[in-house]
Amino acid sequence: MFTVLRNELIAPRLHRILVLAPRIATARQAGQFVMVRASEGEERIPLTIGDADSAQGTITLFVQAIGAGTQKIVSLQPGSSLQDVAGPLGMPTEIETWGRVVCVGGGVGTAVLYPMAKALAAAGNSVTTIIGGRTKSLIILADELAEFCQAVRITTDDGSAGTKGFVTSELKSLIEAPDSRPSTVFAVGPVPMMRAVTELTRSYAIPTVVSLNPIMIDGTGMCGGCRVQIGGEAKFACVDGPEFDGHLVDFEGLAKRLRMYEKHEEACRLSGN
Ligand code: NAD
Ligand code: FES
Repeated sequence: MFTVLRNELIAPRLHRILVLAPRIATARQAGQFVMVRASEGEERIPLTIGDADSAQGTITLFVQAIGAGTQKIVSLQPGSSLQDVAGPLGMPTEIETWGRVVCVGGGVGTAVLYPMAKALAAAGNSVTTIIGGRTKSLIILADELAEFCQAVRITTDDGSAGTKGFVTSELKSLIEAPDSRPSTVFAVGPVPMMRAVTELTRSYAIPTVVSLNPIMIDGTGMCGGCRVQIGGEAKFACVDGPEFDGHLVDFEGLAKRLRMYEKHEEACRLSGN
């Protein structure tokens, strides 16, 4: 059992949960995730390890309440426990010193991007982060990212905070300015966003890493649920990823697989199971 130490709502339906998990806190690296189950019989949910403190033995998870399983997790109060937290799983982010790096986070994807940006900055890269959301209340972790990023740029679709527009407009302006063109881009967010980012960076030949979130069942490479096509080859996001060369990802196939369980999830939500 893994004790929940803190549970706070940081944006509509998005919780930051601090969990006591000393072994994972020590072993984890940026980019890795855990499979979490609130209680016996519940669905296992893959969650990026948002942060870790090995001295305190804690990990931070960002959980968006979207389905039955995530709803159970976010309802846990401090002092209660999660049945299973298995990990760390997945390949860590490949951290190099590229120099100027731009990290792009779309909506909830910013929570997945956060540990990557932190590790990139710790390795000596100059990190500029662009975070986008539909509206101001959906912009997350701006202050936390500002602690180690060179700059944090905000975009909102409705113009309620930062620059009005998509993250891609801001990225394009950084790429086109002579003193801010990145040598590498990292992008995490909804599939259309990651696809748009990779289309943009491809035209400037800027290497781009994306973190994919296909449906995962076991998280250990056994079930095939998280299969994605990368450069025409089948890969499992849970063991080969979740990060991949964005210019090689079949985003169309990924979007199709993500839609497979929509009806089932909706039925569970309506029935409360
Ligand atoms: P959203 O749809 O509100 O989009 C967030 C921002 O992404 C927008 O404000 C915009 O700046 C950018 N964006 C969206 N579509 C774009 C496009 N076509 N072109 C350019 N930029 C675009 O995001 P949300 O509702 O927070 O995200 C939900 C989705 O994100 C879910 O589908 C979820 O599965 C996915 N997600 C992915 C990851 C991951 O690891 N890749 C992590 C968490 C969530
Ligand atoms: Fe089963 Fe990846 S989740 S193979």
